Amino acid sequence: MACDRRTLLRASAFVLALAAGPALAQQDSKIPIAVIGGGNIGGTIGGLWVKAGHPVMFASRHPEDLKPLVEKLGPLAKAGTVEQALAFGDAVLIAVPYKAYPELGQTHAGLLKGKVVLDAGNATKARDGELAAEAESAGIGATSAKYLPGARLVRAFNAANYRLFAQSAHRSGAKMAVPIAGDDRQALTVAAALVRDAGFDPVVVGGLDAARQFQMGAPNYGRDVTGPEARKAFGVAE
Ligand SMILES: NC(=O)c1ccc[n+]([C@@H]2O[C@H](COP(=O)([O-])OP(=O)(O)OC[C@H]3O[C@@H](n4cnc5c(N)ncnc54)[C@H](OP(=O)(O)O)[C@@H]3O)[C@@H](O)[C@H]2O)c1
Repeated sequence: MACDRRTLLRASAFVLALAAGPALAQQDSKIPIAVIGGGNIGGTIGGLWVKAGHPVMFASRHPEDLKPLVEKLGPLAKAGTVEQALAFGDAVLIAVPYKAYPELGQTHAGLLKGKVVLDAGNATKARDGELAAEAESAGIGATSAKYLPGARLVRAFNAANYRLFAQSAHRSGAKMAVPIAGDDRQALTVAAALVRDAGFDPVVVGGLDAARQFQMGAPNYGRDVTGPEARKAFGVAE
């Protein structure tokens, strides 16, 4: 089943509400989110979205193991299968080991098609084997797009450790920068709003190919910097 009209309309309404300004955005900008992978990064970022008022369904191959996480987060948090979460979410965070991408993308191609997908995965040789070399040579953006075809992909939340995200969210003063990159303008707007809701400053680095600049091993990976500092480092205004 492809991403349905209702989901597209809700994503568009979310973008319109954001454009309408803070008052309307506060009322209307809560969207159901699927977090695929309820481990370190999924649990952390999904938890921040729940605290911001978004309904979140966490998924893994063993949803029963996610019970303690969702009980701790309260009624806006649910656990389900990957299929249930993808059907639930208007936006998706992928937070699983990169080696799971090929099968995940193939099995759930219909539900991922047309969805705004925030992609936090990093490929490492020790854990993900050949995929790490592919991500290194083709770029992580192109590699994710190959294995998650049809998704409106935005690279996000990959460039820092989950502990740093947990301790830095909504910090006072200048917020911590979260670099994002994607080819779909509307998906970038949705992703930027969700980065903000999690308590960070989204920095749009460019299209999917620009995700190379903050993929694992790149100089701008793993840096705890503010939005203005990140914009300067990436040479972008947004
Ligand atoms: N840890 C960090 O600080 C950090 C920071 C940025 C980015 N990342 C990236 O985020 C991804 C996840 O890292 P993590 O540290 O959060 O891993 P983790 O703590 O091991 O959690 C992985 C989660 O994914 C689930 N999972 C694994 N295979 C799956 C599949 N085929 N289908 C559905 N769910 C699956 C696991 O549950 P089951 O095994 O029960 O299915 C678990 O809930 C990786 O690509 C990593 O490079 C991590």
